[in-house]
Amino acid sequence: MGSSFSCCGDEKVEEGPNNEMGGGNSWRIFTYKELYAATNGFSENNKLGEGGFGSVYWGKTSDGLQIAVKKLKSMNSKAEMEFAVEVEVLGRVRHKNLLGLRGYCAGNEQRLIVYDYMPNLSLLSHLHGHLSKEVQLDWKKRMKVAIGSAEGLLYLHHEVTPHIIHRDIKASNVLLDSNFEPLVADFGFAKLIPEGVSHMTTRVKGTLGYLAPEYAMWGKVSESCDVYSFGILLLELITGRKPIEKLPNGIKRTITEWVEAMIAKEKFKDLVDPKLKGNFDEFQLKQSIRVAALCVQSEPDKRPTMKEVVSILKGKEMNFVKVNQNLRIQSVKYGDDLMAMDQDDESNDESSDQGNESSVYGVFGAMEMQKMQDPYKRFGEK
Ligand SMILES: Nc1ncnc2c1ncn2[C@@H]1O[C@H](COP(=O)(O)OP(=O)(O)OP(=O)(O)O)[C@@H](O)[C@H]1O
Ligand SMILES: [Mg+2]
Repeated sequence: MGSSFSCCGDEKVEEGPNNEMGGGNSWRIFTYKELYAATNGFSENNKLGEGGFGSVYWGKTSDGLQIAVKKLKSMNSKAEMEFAVEVEVLGRVRHKNLLGLRGYCAGNEQRLIVYDYMPNLSLLSHLHGHLSKEVQLDWKKRMKVAIGSAEGLLYLHHEVTPHIIHRDIKASNVLLDSNFEPLVADFGFAKLIPEGVSHMTTRVKGTLGYLAPEYAMWGKVSESCDVYSFGILLLELITGRKPIEKLPNGIKRTITEWVEAMIAKEKFKDLVDPKLKGNFDEFQLKQSIRVAALCVQSEPDKRPTMKEVVSILKGKEMNFVKVNQNLRIQSVKYGDDLMAMDQDDESNDESSDQGNESSVYGVFGAMEMQKMQDPYKRFGEK
């Protein structure tokens, strides 16, 4: 993004370029002192949550702007790289459904990223966190969240150059503004794809439950990995269930396994989150389940593009999904070794830790694994 990261002095406030970044807003460089004051000294009371990068704090600047400040946990080369990627990628994107940059601070010892505060927090907090009991997300809002998130991804995959693969699409990375318009956040894991490259092999980062099987197992990353994750997110929105659930007998079950079984029993309407008390649009339910079913297919080449996903969700593309065709969903089993890496802990009491969504959610710690070789070249790759 052109600016050096060494300009965050304690006293001096530097203005960033008033450019086209960050959802149409200009960004600037913040001083550590300013962010310290805005967040009440990074007080626990201001903490919105914690993720792989560090903690996120609510704050208010002296000119009254509400911000969310992401503070790097520890300084090491990996974290610095993530910071650099996040800031670099944020500098390339501008879309109503992507959370742009408000600013950053990069002193000798600190790395902080500043975003606009999203008053309705994350999708995670509404589906599984401390706001879930209030059921503010009715069916209409859920469809709006689905379409908006899909549009944000479409932009990343098809409209920005080079194309960007998000790699960490999940409920905590979909934030909601005051109108429940979704904004996809967190590009620290993003991968920039050079022109003409269809996929890359990489170390696996992300959150089990949302990970496409070819990515989780062999580190093969392409846009269709995000499509897979989006399919899981869509199922989560419809059903209100977590991507991986721990059953009372200790066995972990993926959301696709549950949906597959429900469909096999023709319990179609029972797929919908019971919190909605039967208030949903049946046609939209069928369409969105079909979209999700297409997205979560294990063969990446069979998944739709985000362009197609948006068209179907908006009811434009009817060829792709035949309304009367039999509905099937292909569930994915990650294998015991991967499931064992999942940080599920159902003992987390949801109401006891309202400020920290990561521990409320509990189930999916960000994971990083060495890529494994695919001995069978299952998907016919060169
Ligand atoms: N701009 C924002 N406004 C409101 N809440 C936010 C904002 N940015 C982040 N959060 C919330 O802060 C919490 C921590 O976010 P963070 O991105 O660090 O972790 P995460 O999304 O849970 O995991 P990961 O590190 O894998 O992204 C999340 O619940 C997130 O929804
Ligand atoms: Mg996040």
